[in-house]
Amino acid sequence: MSILSYIDNTIQDFAEISDNDVTFCDIFAGTSSVGKYFKNKGYNIISNDIEYYSFVYAKHFIENNEKITFNKLKDKGIQSVFEYLNKLNDKKGFIFQNYTISGTQNQEYERKYFTEENAIKIDSVRNKIEEWKNNKLIKENEYYYLITCLLEAADKVANTASVYEAFLKDIKKSAQKTMEIKPLEILTNDKEKKYFVTNEDANLLINKISGDVLYMDPPYNTRKYDTNYHMLETIALYDNPLIKGKAGVREETKKRSKYCIKKEVETVLEDIIEKAKFKYIFLSYNDEGIIPLNRIKEIMSKYGEYKVYEKNYKRFKADSNRDYLKDSTIEYIHCLKKC
Ligand SMILES: C[S@@+](CC[C@H](N)C(=O)[O-])C[C@H]1O[C@@H](n2cnc3c(N)ncnc32)[C@H](O)[C@@H]1O
Repeated sequence: MSILSYIDNTIQDFAEISDNDVTFCDIFAGTSSVGKYFKNKGYNIISNDIEYYSFVYAKHFIENNEKITFNKLKDKGIQSVFEYLNKLNDKKGFIFQNYTISGTQNQEYERKYFTEENAIKIDSVRNKIEEWKNNKLIKENEYYYLITCLLEAADKVANTASVYEAFLKDIKKSAQKTMEIKPLEILTNDKEKKYFVTNEDANLLINKISGDVLYMDPPYNTRKYDTNYHMLETIALYDNPLIKGKAGVREETKKRSKYCIKKEVETVLEDIIEKAKFKYIFLSYNDEGIIPLNRIKEIMSKYGEYKVYEKNYKRFKADSNRDYLKDSTIEYIHCLKKC
């Protein structure tokens, strides 16, 4: 069973909700996979993540709810936006200068995240999207749509094992291919459904929202998300950041999430649960998380009826060559009916 069906079945089993008018909050949204699934089910969605690139994904996948037309570009004679973007190759910008061999050859670190051809394409497309936005040739929803399409396309040709904390020594096969930016799906649902997408610390946002189901999939270990995904953040923001080290991570990183700090995580978890104005709370956490199972149970039980579901899952393939790791994990979903 997929993780998404497991989450859905758990919610159906534990919560008494009719599928008619449910407000569902995905407060640590990441790639929006959970929000997308429940949008498709017809729920109203609140989506949040502290990372900007995640926000961009949700602005497209969650908030965009009708066909994208690009009317103004068409008026200017650009009939096929993707064909136009895929032909661009006129900018050696920030990505070329900092993340390719040619761009970095006289710098302290040589980096090999993209081929020269693809880095130029990323820079050219990203510049064009910004120019169109500044010249009011695309609407806000079209802007987020195009950046999401670019992030997906760039990620497919990145020379990494999975995340961006390191690049590979040799350019792998998929990274040698020419990047192609393609139209992504647009999930549409009833016009009356409500979608709200935001970009802040979950423990601050929780004071301002309410609904039926709060779904939480926070980081479960001490690895920093902004290091793992710095490239997507930089392509999304395109803000010429100061970068550092062999991986070229953003220098001014956000403070480490308290969900990644052993001494703080229980406090922030309890804080969000206490403040949540939601009938039901579901927390995904696995058996390698930094909070022990019994502590989650103790914390959540203070605020209502508690139950935990568990399932074994094969480990994500990017970790499979690290043989000291187990090849499966137990995915827990901790459930709470608040009273
Ligand atoms: C395990 S991932 C979520 C994955 C997501 N369910 C998906 O399908 O892609 C955890 C997410 O929490 C975000 N995050 C970490 N600390 C946060 C905080 N204090 N407030 C909001 N988001 C946070 C990270 O940026 C990351 O995207």
